[in-house]
Amino acid sequence: MATATTTTTASEGDAGVIAVVRVHARVRREGAVEGVVAAVKMRASASASMDARAGAELTSDAGPPSTADALLRRECDRVYVADVEWRPGAVRSRRLLPWQFVVEARAYRVSETREEMTTTTIASNNEGQTTVACEKWVLPSLDFEGAWESLEFDDDGVKSRLLAYASTALIFSKSGVRQSVVAWNRVVLLHGPPGTGKTTLCKALAQMLSIKFSDVFDESFLIEVNAHSLFAGVYSESPKQVHRVFKQIRELAENGNALVFVLIDEVESVAAARTSAMSANEPSDTIRVVNALLTQIDALKSKPNVIVLTTSNLTQAIDLAFVDRADIKCFIGPPGFNARYNILRSCVQELIDRRLLHGAAPVDLDDCTASNCPTSLALRTAVQATDGFSGRTLRKLPFLTYSSVGSGAQCSVQTFLRALTVQAKSELNDRLQLKRT
Ligand SMILES: Nc1ncnc2c1ncn2[C@@H]1O[C@H](COP(=O)(O)OP(=O)(O)OP(=O)(O)O)[C@@H](O)[C@H]1O
Ligand SMILES: [Mg+2]
Repeated sequence: MATATTTTTASEGDAGVIAVVRVHARVRREGAVEGVVAAVKMRASASASMDARAGAELTSDAGPPSTADALLRRECDRVYVADVEWRPGAVRSRRLLPWQFVVEARAYRVSETREEMTTTTIASNNEGQTTVACEKWVLPSLDFEGAWESLEFDDDGVKSRLLAYASTALIFSKSGVRQSVVAWNRVVLLHGPPGTGKTTLCKALAQMLSIKFSDVFDESFLIEVNAHSLFAGVYSESPKQVHRVFKQIRELAENGNALVFVLIDEVESVAAARTSAMSANEPSDTIRVVNALLTQIDALKSKPNVIVLTTSNLTQAIDLAFVDRADIKCFIGPPGFNARYNILRSCVQELIDRRLLHGAAPVDLDDCTASNCPTSLALRTAVQATDGFSGRTLRKLPFLTYSSVGSGAQCSVQTFLRALTVQAKSELNDRLQLKRT
C-alpha cells in the first residue's frame, strides 16, 4: 500500500516569506516515510538557497554530506520540488534565500497497481460481451510520476488554481461544511484544443492531491471512464451499462476514507452523441445514455470524497449540460513562447542525460546568461518556428529531428538545434499541405 506523510513549517506571519516550496520524496520502503520527512526538512533548512523550479532535485550544498543527506540517498529514489506556491504579490525568483521560503515536505511510496474494470453487456448477437469500462489506478501511481512537473504553461497560475480549488473542495468536505449553506461541487472541466495537456493535467492533479491528502484519506484511486464503452452493446443495454460502471465507482466511494477521482475524458463524445441524436430526431437510447450519465455525475457530486475530472476537445459549443455541472471550467490553450522553450529544453536535456547529444544544454530563459549562451539562442530560433504547436507535437519534434540527423552519439547540441528549426518548419509545411487537400 502506498503511504505518505507530511509536515509543514509554513506560518502565515513569517516575515520575508514569499513562497511555500512543496518538496516530495519518493521512498523505496514504507517504513522510511517518517524519517525521510524529517531529513527533507533538515536538508532544506540547512540549504544556503533553494531552487524554486518544479522538478528541481533537492541536492546537497557543497561540503561533507550530513546524516540527512545520507538517509535521503539511502531511502529515496528521488527528492524534488513538486510545486511552488507564491504568496500574492511576490516577486518570483529562481533561487530563494532561506528566509524567503517555507517547506512542505511529503514522502510517499508509489504503487504499480493498475486494473481494468470490466462490465458485461449484451451484444447485438444476443451474446454476453465483456467491455473494459474503466481503468483503475491506486494512487500515487508510478504511471503518473513526473507528470505534474512536466507540464509547462505560460500562465503558471493554471496549475496552482486547480490545485487550490481541488484542495479547498476536499477541505470543505472533510470539515463537514453544509452544502445547503455554502454550495460547491466537485466537478472540473478542462477544455481546449487537442494535445494541450488536459488529460495529463487531470491525472497529474489526482496524483498531487493523493499525496497532499494522504494524511486525511487512507487510500486514493483514479478511475478513468472509457466514454466510448458506454455506447457498447445493443440499444437498450447502454443506459444499463452506465449504471453498472457508476455502481462500481459508488461502491469504491462508499468507503469515506478513500479518495476517489473519476476521469471522464473527451466528454464531448458523449455530448456529441446526444446532439446528433437530437438533430436526427431520434429519441433514442443515445439520449437516455447521456441523461443516465448526467444523473450519475449528479449522484457522485454528493459524495464528499469524490472529485470528477472531465476534459473536452471542443473549444466552443460544449454541451451545456456538462458546463453547468462543472464548478471550475478551465481553458487550456496551446503553449506560448516560454512554455514551448521549457518543453523543448527539457527534451534536449533528456537527450544529453541519455548521452544521445553532447554539449552544453540551453539555460533557463530567466538565467542572466541566456542572452550570451549559444545553445539557448539556437533554441530560441527553433521555438520561434513552433508558434501554434501543441505540447504533444512539441514533445514529438525532438524524436523526428534526431531521426533526421541520424548521427547517433556524434550529434552535438548545436547541430541538433539547427535541425530542430528545420524540422519545425517542415512540420508547419505538412500542416499547410494537409489543410489545402
Ligand atoms: N503544456 C504542456 N507542457 C508539457 N507537455 C505537454 C503540454 N501539453 C501537452 N503535453 C504533452 O503532450 C502529450 C499529450 O497530452 P494530453 O494527452 O494530456 O493532451 P490532451 O489535451 O488531453 O489532448 P486531446 O485533447 O487530444 O485528448 C503528453 O505527453 C503531455 O505531457
Ligand atoms: Mg485528452
